[in-house]
Amino acid sequence: MSSLLLDALACKNRARPPVWMMRQAGRVLPSYRALRDTNSLEELFHHPELIAEITLMPVDQLGVDAAILFSDIMTVVEGLGLSYSFPKKQGPVVSPSIESPYDLKRIKIREDVKYSYVTRAIQAIKERATVPLIGFCGGPLTVATYMLKGGKGQLEEWIKEEPASLHRLLQFITEASKHYLSLQIEAGVDAIQLFDSWSGLLPRKHFLDFALPAMRELTSFVTDRKIPCIVFTRGASCLTEALISIRPTAISFDWDKEINQLRRDVPPHIAVQGNLNPEVLLEPPKTIERETEKMLEKMENEPGYIVNLGHGLLPNTPLEHIKTFVQTVKQ
Ligand code: CP3
Repeated sequence: MSSLLLDALACKNRARPPVWMMRQAGRVLPSYRALRDTNSLEELFHHPELIAEITLMPVDQLGVDAAILFSDIMTVVEGLGLSYSFPKKQGPVVSPSIESPYDLKRIKIREDVKYSYVTRAIQAIKERATVPLIGFCGGPLTVATYMLKGGKGQLEEWIKEEPASLHRLLQFITEASKHYLSLQIEAGVDAIQLFDSWSGLLPRKHFLDFALPAMRELTSFVTDRKIPCIVFTRGASCLTEALISIRPTAISFDWDKEINQLRRDVPPHIAVQGNLNPEVLLEPPKTIERETEKMLEKMENEPGYIVNLGHGLLPNTPLEHIKTFVQTVKQ
């Protein structure tokens, strides 16, 4: 399949840059919100036909150049014999939860979990889609933070008091993620993005000791299978060298630095993705046009550039504003 996204990932795009948005599937589209009124998130995440439908909504309604699978980074815990839920619009809750190193005994790698609802959805999307499909999983440290009952506080405690237990937990998540990614790849996704939302917010030493090795393992796992791998770490602008060292196909950047500066920092064979502040999409359309154009001008004729936001779409972003952003790139 030739496409703007795949060409840009190969740093060989001679046309306009492709555009898609993190969290474009779900969250903001009125047609998605209508489905959410009558279905729980857990139901939606396990229903192949609805997964396909939601995944394709932003392609049909916004005209983006890539689809991203409608799923969540917590799906992977099923491959560890655990389950997850989203009580009352909060973040994910895993059960049974991990409170002490002793609880790691509950975790088992379950190769028999085949995620057939996801693989069937991928096949259905591939039959219909006119743009590439991005599969994904979470960065192991970010997933670990949600698995620990005490969240970030417990993570920090384990970094200091229980580093060996934390390494064991990360290794479990990494193994389960490889299994889950291989099923997505076999089912036909065109690229993978690793969402490591929280690890870049750790002190640098802890990022290097705990988060980066797991990300390196997953990145090689994907690229060894000849599938492009995009790495998203919130805080990437300040971790550029470390992220280059794990040899991803592309790095997705937040808005802490100018995109052309980041382009210069990254070797030319690695694509860059980003980096409009999602809050700009809350401003009037004129401002959105102006800020998007400013970003595009900095990256004129760049063969390895993918337009995106610096983090996910904010839940209350007006639909018309999102369309303005996409149309500004496409024109
Ligand atoms: O891009 C897409 O829209 C594809 C689907 C997708 C979801 N979650 C669906 C979802 C993706 C790529 C994710 C990734 C994800 N999930 C991340 C990493 C990206 C990031 O934003 O930092 C994280 C940290 C999570 C964990 C998570 N899932 C949280 C904290 C929440 C609750 C808050 C929220 O709404 O995001 C979720 C729930 C979730 N995942 C929803 C959706 C569409 C909830 C929306 C609803 O209430 O219907």
